[in-house]
Parts: sequence; structure tokens; C-alpha cells
Amino acid sequence: MEKRELPIGVIDSGLGGISVLKELLLAMPNEKYIYIGDSANAPYGVKGPEEILMLTENSVKALLERRIKALVIACNTATGVAVKYLREKYAELPIIGLEPALKPAVENCEGGAVAVMATPVTLSEEKFRILYDRYKENTEIITVGAPKIVEFVEKGVFEGEELEGYLAELFEPYKEKNIESVVLGCTHFPFVTDAISKVTGAKRIYDGGRGAALETRRRLEALGLLSEENDGYVSLENTLDDPEILRLSEVLLER
Ligand code: DGL
Repeated sequence: MEKRELPIGVIDSGLGGISVLKELLLAMPNEKYIYIGDSANAPYGVKGPEEILMLTENSVKALLERRIKALVIACNTATGVAVKYLREKYAELPIIGLEPALKPAVENCEGGAVAVMATPVTLSEEKFRILYDRYKENTEIITVGAPKIVEFVEKGVFEGEELEGYLAELFEPYKEKNIESVVLGCTHFPFVTDAISKVTGAKRIYDGGRGAALETRRRLEALGLLSEENDGYVSLENTLDDPEILRLSEVLLER
């Protein structure tokens, strides 16, 4: 098989990366995709870096055995911890990662504060510190570690009192601030955008999914690796041995 007709591998700690997969499908509907969610080990965002690295590489190895032409790490947490290592080790493979979309949020900010929500691991990574330092000069940036949203999404909870109560608790220390926009620095969070908008009152919500999808297309195009056929498909897979997780994966892909 021609290399350009191989699938694109997409990985996440669980269901969150499906928010990125949706953007990939919009940007490149003709491609083939294998998505591996590691829900058996989610959440990653509260684990140590060695464990996150090992789990991420397990998914990468599983994809490489099946042959892929590119890898999208559809997880901010895994990107922050593992992207450098993976790019060095698998130098032949185009690897695209996710990072919080702080740039457009700061550039479009009209005076209020920008809140970045992510897992505690993402916020503590050097990669995020560098990003934060680059944009903190002229805009007030609040960082909100939100470890539990992943658990809500993994259970199929996208709205309701319990979720809103949790979000209200997270934003309690900032209730005097005028939060103008929120950056979703975790790929699970776009599935609870409505609840986040409601609780924070933010005018704009940003996530990195579209940017990562467009970057993937650019990279594949530059390498002459865009599919020329018209037989795209999505294979949704999960490390959790439970039909419910695959059903939920399909629901999220259609949402
Ligand atoms: N989707 C992952 C991210 O973007 C969530 C990490 C987790 O499992 O805690 O960070």
C-alpha cells in the first residue's frame, strides 16, 4: 500500500481526543483514522510523568504495529509529557501534538481576564510555562487546574447540577474577575463547553482542536502524504473492555 493511503493514528487518555478527531474529519474527510482511547488508564492528568509517558508510548506502539503515516497526540497532557521524547525516538513519523490555544485568546482579548483550564499535569509542564510567559505581559491569565472534568466526560456526563457545582467551585476564587474568555487546555473539555460558558460567563471559548487538525493537514500536504483516494473511515478503539465506552465514543463523534 502507498504510504499516503495509510491511516492517521490518533490517541488520547480516553474519549477527549474525539473532539480533535472531529476537527480532523472536517479538515480531511477522505483520510482513514484509527483512534485509540486509553480509558482503562484515564485520567492521565493526575499521574506522574513516567507513567504518562509509558502509557502514551503503549498506544503509539499499538498503532505502529498496524502502520500509520502520522500520529496526532490528541491530548494536551500526553503532549506536554511525551511529545519531545516521541519525536526523538520515532523521528520518521510526523507527530502533531496539542497545546492550549492561548495565542488567539490573548490576541482577541478586549480587556478582561483569560482563564486557561487544563489538567494539573499540563499546567505544571515546562511547555505550558513557556507559553504562559510569552503571553502574560499584557493580559491577565488565570490558570485553573480541573482534574475531574475528565471523569465526568468518561462517564458520559456533559451537563447538570453536579458538573456545574464542580465548575462553580473551581471558579469560586476568581468570582470578582471579569473572565472574558476561557481556553480549554484539555481535549475532554469541549464536550462540556455549554456548562463552562454558563458558569464562567465567558464571551469566548477556545480550544486547540481545529489548530491541530489544520497543522496535521499542512504537515501531510508538505510531505505529499494526503490520501488521493475516497475511502476514508474511522476506527474507534478503546483499551477499556466495555461496549458502553465504544457506544459513548460513537455518540461523541456524532455530537
Ligand atoms: N484529554 C486529556 C488532555 O487533553 C485529558 C488528560 C487526562 O486524562 O487527565 O489533557
